[in-house]
Amino acid sequence: MTGRVLVVVPTYNEAQSLPGTLARLRAAVPTADVLVVDDASPDGTGRLADEIAAGDPAVHVLHRAGKQGLGRAYVAGFGWGLERGYDVLVEMDADGSHQPEDLPRLLAALDDDGADLVIGSRWVPGGRVENWPWHRLVLSRGANTYTRLAMGLPVRDATAGYRAYRARVLARVRLDEVQSQGYCFQVDMTWRALRAGAVVREVPITFVERAAGRSKMSNRIVVEALVRVTGWGVARRAGQAAGALRTAMAAVSGRRPSRT
Ligand code: GDD
Ligand code: MN
Repeated sequence: MTGRVLVVVPTYNEAQSLPGTLARLRAAVPTADVLVVDDASPDGTGRLADEIAAGDPAVHVLHRAGKQGLGRAYVAGFGWGLERGYDVLVEMDADGSHQPEDLPRLLAALDDDGADLVIGSRWVPGGRVENWPWHRLVLSRGANTYTRLAMGLPVRDATAGYRAYRARVLARVRLDEVQSQGYCFQVDMTWRALRAGAVVREVPITFVERAAGRSKMSNRIVVEALVRVTGWGVARRAGQAAGALRTAMAAVSGRRPSRT
């Protein structure tokens, strides 16, 4: 049984997209509640979300003081949901790139595969991206290849933003320690979930580039991801080296008595 589901939708200047996404989401999974996390969007997305929430008790809005990044918005949204006892927390973009109609399939994979984290993946067989310019395709493939090599994550789409987490996994992750502000939050959380013992599954999705508004992807987000992923990769290798050293030391000191 999936239990109570909360879909967390971060927004920054998504007034053109949010109403359509929420309508599709409420139709696709009527039993799921929704939390819009808005960073004081100058275009009035927060007010619009309040209006929708006033007419639909399943929709909630968390207002934040200013643009603090996707990662911070999700940490706040997850905290809100965990406090209220939801069993499953979903990440979904507001701009229509993540098809709400795919959500039943993500939720089913939580149950059928006994997974704790289901990732809607663009880069497994059957997954794809529509209408992305070539530089975004290269960036996403490159970021995933680099992440896999540096960190050894057993995941094809570690930067994916369409996900379903079991609350028990998020409760085991120290969310207050998550520093990632931008899109590397997704990699950060994949790593933390795996270290917390989560079973991770990927299901194919079609990611459709937004029809309205603009992506918040920036050079700053790319640089943060590069720096952090490299740091995590180095930390992992240092950990492996320390482990190998300990093993070697134990072997050496274990041999010593027999020689004397
Ligand atoms: N509250 C808040 N604060 N929301 C934000 C912020 C922020 O600082 N930055 C972005 N968002 C919201 C957007 O409004 C949108 O709903 C969602 O987060 C995704 O942002 P986009 O700007 O549309 O991202 P994208 O399409 O370039 O990137 C997608 O692909 C990335 C890389 O594969 C997303 O799915 C990312 O999650 C993913 O990492
Ligand atoms: Mn987008």
